[in-house]
Amino acid sequence: MTEYKRYLVTAALPYANGPVHIGHLAGVYVPADIYVRYLRMNKKDVVFVCGSDEHGVPITIKAMKENCTPQDIVDRYDAIIRKSFEEFGISFSNYSRTSHELHSKVSSDFFKTLYDKGEFVEQTSEQYYDEEAHQFLADRYIMGTCPKCGAEGAYGDQCEKCGSSLSPEELINPVSKLSGSALVKKPTKHWYLPLDKHEEFLRKWILEDHKEWKSNVYGQCKSWLDSGLHPRAVSRDLDWGVPLPLPNTEGKVLYVWFDAPIGYITSTQECTQDWEKYWKSEDTKLVHFIGKDNIVFHCIVFPVMLKAHGGYILPDNVPANEFLNLEGDKISTSRNWAVWLNEYLEDFKDQQDTLRYVLTANAPETKDNDFTWKDFQARNNNELVAILGNFINRVVVLTHKYFGGKVPAQGQLTETDKQALQAIVEAKENISKNIENYRFRDALKDAMQLARVGNKYLTETEPWKLIKTDEARVATILNVGLQITANCGILFEPFLPFSAKKILKMMNLASATWDDAGNVNLMEEGKEIAQAELLFRKIEDSEVDAQIERLKKIKAEQETQAAMNAPVAPQKETITYDDFAKMDIRMGTILAAERVPKTDKLMKLTVNVGIDTRTVVSGIAEHFTPEECVGRQVCVLVNLKPRTMKNIESQGMILMAENADGTLHFIETEKKIKDGSAIS
Ligand code: 2FM
Ligand code: ZN
Repeated sequence: MTEYKRYLVTAALPYANGPVHIGHLAGVYVPADIYVRYLRMNKKDVVFVCGSDEHGVPITIKAMKENCTPQDIVDRYDAIIRKSFEEFGISFSNYSRTSHELHSKVSSDFFKTLYDKGEFVEQTSEQYYDEEAHQFLADRYIMGTCPKCGAEGAYGDQCEKCGSSLSPEELINPVSKLSGSALVKKPTKHWYLPLDKHEEFLRKWILEDHKEWKSNVYGQCKSWLDSGLHPRAVSRDLDWGVPLPLPNTEGKVLYVWFDAPIGYITSTQECTQDWEKYWKSEDTKLVHFIGKDNIVFHCIVFPVMLKAHGGYILPDNVPANEFLNLEGDKISTSRNWAVWLNEYLEDFKDQQDTLRYVLTANAPETKDNDFTWKDFQARNNNELVAILGNFINRVVVLTHKYFGGKVPAQGQLTETDKQALQAIVEAKENISKNIENYRFRDALKDAMQLARVGNKYLTETEPWKLIKTDEARVATILNVGLQITANCGILFEPFLPFSAKKILKMMNLASATWDDAGNVNLMEEGKEIAQAELLFRKIEDSEVDAQIERLKKIKAEQETQAAMNAPVAPQKETITYDDFAKMDIRMGTILAAERVPKTDKLMKLTVNVGIDTRTVVSGIAEHFTPEECVGRQVCVLVNLKPRTMKNIESQGMILMAENADGTLHFIETEKKIKDGSAIS
């Protein structure tokens, strides 16, 4: 077992094409920050790096849509993301950007080394090219008709209508999503990292040597390895990214997933001259914090890059999390289904720790989890306010009230007191063990357990009732309360750094290390404490209701939008005029209408079609009330063979137009005409 001398902790580089949301925070940045804060409190040598991931096609598309440059886009979001991380106390040693000059050098040098060592495979293939936009297109920027279900608007990688996985070659009539123009095929050369060549090494390194990895991570790696690895292109035809450092490769850049993880190295180089000590010594522990969609890149691709390069260490662990959903739905940047960190702070000013708490308590560590505003409110009000905040406030206020703000003597300890103090020792042990094993939810529970013990201890010992009769006993109780409080100030630091700081300030403890925790005499007799400060405030129903309302509105807008964008039905096969002439369509007036009992859709209509008055059963009951139907002049197919539905014989069909949003509309003439008039 390696004895590690230092730690290199990385957190996934967020894409600079939008702000960061609670899913990012819960999955990656809060757990990474808890881990790092814990290490620092243990006086470990740690470098914690991250930065904005600023390359890739989506950023160029966004720029095109907004008629600005990709640099404008990333400048905007890098600033927002950076600020959010700072505001939420994510304590990076350095936060960099992949559009920095240094990164271009570091990543192209990395590529060049692999190239010179012959680690790449070169291959020329035919790819779709948009002659209007003058560029090769990534699969999802190619659209066409789905070969499986016939839906229009299927993407080059997937049909959203029927869910089939597709390749651009399979699409019928592929066009560019960028310009709408037809595509041509052109040959293009790319460089591939032959992952298959490293399979044996990966199988041993992951499947044998890292059995301790989280089961979701290990399982995903195993399934990748079992299904066989293939060479992966590490270059792209694009004009945004790190230019390929090879002659005659104009218009080609490093694939964003090649340069992004090298961003960790750049970020380390930016913050310490000693960067090689962190990346190249076997006694450095490298840990990557990521979301589950990044597992293959951090457990397979990047390690292969590092190993192929030579000299670099590989990660000791990659504690990837699953996803956080929002109110039962997948968080989505494009659908605006998210709680954005910058917006959260507008509504919940100075309540960073509440969100950190809820996201850790609910972290998607072993399975996807759901964030709901009601749970957020309940955890804040019932746990942070009612337990942690209440306990500490009572201890501080009572110490001022009864002992002039000075730590009273511990005196004789009863069994109850000893048990309460024992909880401090246990909390420290449990929290440490859980954090070291990347179980942050459990670690937070352990910390909260200490606050629970303290709160219960005060409630049960009732010092406010004893003060008149037994001051010495009250002194003991508050002394014990203060020891627990001070320990909370240390043990909560990794999770709730803002509140922990306030607690330590109240306890008049300038700084504390993890070593100080577990000490049941941390607060010495006679030490002065500061005045009570509010730690958490109650969150009202109206506040979370407003958030829920906001989400409901977004959902309604999205649903309408999706319906409007739904593909229009494809044209049916050609028919002859004779086929058409077989249909006898007449104008008719609806005389009566009633819903067909026990059905949602059917309406029984009595229609005067000029030649007679007949019954027609129509599937319009979800769209119109009977009252809305009566009196309308409509088009009726009168020579349709009668059909019986729900015991009613339907003698014809009302013609309706279906809008893309699924709504039905009657077809009307510009003015009322004689019933029975033929349509031809
Ligand atoms: O999935 C993402 O958000 C990527 N931008 C993560 C990159 S992690 C890394 F490799 F830098
Ligand atoms: Zn389809």
